[in-house]
Amino acid sequence: MRLNVPLTGAEELALVEEVLESGYLTQGPKVTEFERLVTEYVGTDHGFATSSATTGLHIALHAAGVRPGDEVIIPDFSFPATANAVIQQGAIPVFVDIELETFNINASLIEAAITERTRAIMPVHAFGLPADMDPINGVAKKYNLPVIEDAACALGGTYKGRQAGSLGTAGVFSFHPRKIITTGEGGLVTTSNEEIAEKISVLRTHGSVRGSHFMSFIDAGYNYRLSDVLGAIGVAQMARLDGILERRRELGIHYAQELRGVAGVTAPVVPAETRHAFQSYVVLLDEGIDRNAVIDRMRERDIETTLGTYSMHLQPYFSERFGISDEQLPMATRAHHSALTLPLYPQLTEDDVRAVCNTLAEVLS
Ligand SMILES: Cc1ncc(COP(=O)(O)O)c(C=O)c1O
Repeated sequence: MRLNVPLTGAEELALVEEVLESGYLTQGPKVTEFERLVTEYVGTDHGFATSSATTGLHIALHAAGVRPGDEVIIPDFSFPATANAVIQQGAIPVFVDIELETFNINASLIEAAITERTRAIMPVHAFGLPADMDPINGVAKKYNLPVIEDAACALGGTYKGRQAGSLGTAGVFSFHPRKIITTGEGGLVTTSNEEIAEKISVLRTHGSVRGSHFMSFIDAGYNYRLSDVLGAIGVAQMARLDGILERRRELGIHYAQELRGVAGVTAPVVPAETRHAFQSYVVLLDEGIDRNAVIDRMRERDIETTLGTYSMHLQPYFSERFGISDEQLPMATRAHHSALTLPLYPQLTEDDVRAVCNTLAEVLS
């Protein structure tokens, strides 16, 4: 059983064919339609498709005013693209510890990490569960800082009735094949901040604006556009979104039920007033259990599992550059060693989930 299998079909193929036949392959009408669909769903005024979430995060930070030498607060437990985007902007990631129950940034630790050089806070909605945004936005307001949501995994996740991607100053989604919906590679930045929207639009396309005849280059921008071929896939995927989210949530509930009887495993907590998008189903193993050995034994039984995600301060680049000790980030360190991702995708059945949990119990006993 695979960890994840993207859900695509004839609808994606038909729309891609349309684009190929049109002869217009770069950012065009399908990307515009995809942007409209996602932006309406999320509920922001603007949305800009990008070549990936990483490039989206980079220009969102840039547009929000982060400059070389500035500091950006992020959780330590995330896919390293979160920190890489900060570094690509010449800024310094400041790693804050997480809560083990949710794998999200511990909001109560953010204020202590703020210095005179802090220019933004970038919470991550880990595995599709929105971070505790009220206290995060509260600190941000107190220090007049923009909040960039790394919502790479969280399309469809909600916090107090509002969609991930509409909870801060800007939000960034990923459409990598392991995400809620996919375009193969791709990202999208949402915002209702007019100034940031304008800057993102310019930065995404070579720093240019349209002139009367030609483009006018007003900044040293990037080419971070999404191709219309991929935009077409995104349009077809958006029609599947509600069904995908519903099925992922059903399977999440089923996992929680099945795991109740499995010793050594803690299922993820979903706080009140928060809807988990369940991009990944990540459990925490008790201390002392060799997580990597569990992955190996599950693979021997034809079930693919993997780590949760990375404690970034443990990765060679960050550890050599910043030299942060595990004691400073104890929960992220523990999650790095003990979190385990189980298979979750809409095509799975309840029987598959039961088989995963029974096999896990057998491997752990
Ligand atoms: C939290 C988080 N942020 C950013 C990214 C980067 O996304 P992309 O591959 O679209 O650049 C990922 C991808 O796994 C992620 O999980």
